[in-house]
Amino acid sequence: MLIMGIESSCDETACAIVSDKKEILSSVVWSQFEEHRPFGGVVPEIAARAHLEQVDLIVSEALKKAKVDFKELSAIAVAGGPGLIGGVIVGVITAKAIAMSHQLPFVAINHLEGHALMARLTNDISFPYLLLLVSGGHCQILAVEAPGKYVCLGSTIDDSAGEAFDKVAKMLQIGYPGGPNIERVSIKGNSKRFTFPRPMKGRNDCLFSFSGLKTAVRHQIEILGELSEQDKADLAASFQQAAVESIIDRLQKGIILFKEKYPEGKNLVVSGGVAANTMLRNSIDRLAQKQHMIFAAPPLNLCTDNGVMIAWAGLERFQNGKTSPLDFKARPRWPLDSEDI
Ligand code: KG4
Ligand code: ZN
Repeated sequence: MLIMGIESSCDETACAIVSDKKEILSSVVWSQFEEHRPFGGVVPEIAARAHLEQVDLIVSEALKKAKVDFKELSAIAVAGGPGLIGGVIVGVITAKAIAMSHQLPFVAINHLEGHALMARLTNDISFPYLLLLVSGGHCQILAVEAPGKYVCLGSTIDDSAGEAFDKVAKMLQIGYPGGPNIERVSIKGNSKRFTFPRPMKGRNDCLFSFSGLKTAVRHQIEILGELSEQDKADLAASFQQAAVESIIDRLQKGIILFKEKYPEGKNLVVSGGVAANTMLRNSIDRLAQKQHMIFAAPPLNLCTDNGVMIAWAGLERFQNGKTSPLDFKARPRWPLDSEDI
């Protein structure tokens, strides 16, 4: 069984083909970094136009690399939301057109479900498992019971983790995309130079908050005035340390809640763009060992947005007999724990 997946909900136009034998036949990702860099962040109108210009090319390239023709596909999956609506619409109409012209089943996938199920392709993970989903738009701890069945244990009350990385990178003027740049600049920094707050630390729930941390970084920048390269590195490293420690504390609470509810669950998965952060991955790995859980994270290139995660989630759904009607409407908001997932 071969499934094609199309992703266009933020700033990556991507298409991939995967098989039910967990093979990735092709994965093409075109990032719009150059288009958005002058603005220091994603501009929705520019993103939508760029998706429209690129999507046909990316789909053809995915077919060519996989040496597959449309007629060999079993179904076509697409990220149907949540995301920047212009981009999501581009992906959805493209997938619908392919489905109609080649008589293929059409599967609209929640982008977050793509992140959530990704690690099941690369690792041996059984339901139920505990998921930390940390991306540009979301920051949540979820219990994954099955495809389509998610229980949210806690989420952010303000910014997402990725947003915090992106905003701090902007303040430090180290450029877009923020997360990878914070990580790169931090390498030369002293994470102990500034003591930033560890938001929500010690609380008995697993809610997140990043706005106080972001404000603390802003105040420190104002105090320092003109920033040297070393100041920037120390600020980035101190911020990263605080953000990771806060996430680990929240996840520790999440593990307790999860074990109470699902004593049989043994896997801990992290996914989403921020899961590409090495310090975070290593810290979660240590936490999992302490808590006797088996840790898994997709490889770095499958943490950030890609077509494989959409194709794989499409495959899991399609195998369970789930398809979507061709009048499916692209959704700007679509919580993972909603009824109509
Ligand atoms: O999952 P993703 O590609 O897109 C969304 O669904 O939002 O996540 C993008 C987010 C951005 O905020 C980016 O700064 C962050 O993931 N990110 C990172 C790293 N790589 C990407 N954050 C921290 N460290 C990284 N290495
Ligand atoms: Zn994403």
